[in-house]
Amino acid sequence: MTNATRCLIAGNWKMNGILQESLDFVKELQANPAPEHVEVALMPPFTLLHSLADSFSEKDVRLGAQSMYCEVSGAFTGSISPMMLRDAGCHYVILGHSERRDIMHEGNTLIRKKLDVAWSHGLEPILCIGEHLEERESGRTNEVLKEQLSVLADVNTGVSLTVAYEPVWAIGTGKTASPEQVKETHAFVHEELSRLGHDCRVLYGGSVNPNNAAELLACDGVDGALVGGASLKADSFMKIIEAAAETA
Ligand code: 13P
Repeated sequence: MTNATRCLIAGNWKMNGILQESLDFVKELQANPAPEHVEVALMPPFTLLHSLADSFSEKDVRLGAQSMYCEVSGAFTGSISPMMLRDAGCHYVILGHSERRDIMHEGNTLIRKKLDVAWSHGLEPILCIGEHLEERESGRTNEVLKEQLSVLADVNTGVSLTVAYEPVWAIGTGKTASPEQVKETHAFVHEELSRLGHDCRVLYGGSVNPNNAAELLACDGVDGALVGGASLKADSFMKIIEAAAETA
């Protein structure tokens, strides 16, 4: 851990989860509460936010959304606003996820607009950054991350913010960055954040599972994990929380 805040284990369910499954998940998680020094958060699909907010207190599990639009209300068919997310009990919102960047073509200008509107509505963004395989292989990782972090230029230093480093080639592939790559890259991300005036948690994401969580979470500069596939089953998610409890 690089600062005084708690380690965060966050589950991004992506486009998975229906009501009954989520109620079973809640029961299992409530039977095994996380220790005080580990913060747990879930980012279910929008349709499950209200029901999960009714099930958990913010003290036990914080909720977040996987995305949102950059306007507060109006004629934006199919979009979700920051105000709606607050109303549904969200503390966090994931912004800049590589699936949104690559599939929905979201770029820095839109991400910055979303960051500003998230902050003005009391949401804490989890800003995702990460390089593609060819970028890593051609030695451009730091350049790509720097460019993605440039959305934080001229942002007030006091804002609430979490960053997640998710190498795109490690997402959903079963490949993780090696501990050396994780240490080196997290050190660069913290350094760049500090140059921009921010001292915040940097999570690692990309094929985190119960078998590799302890090693990844023990790396210098890793302040938690953003977990996709392994957060869908309470059993594997709880094992990652246990690994965090032991290493934090
Ligand atoms: P996986 O853990 O399934 O690789 O997903 C990581 C991720 O994209 C979390 O946001």
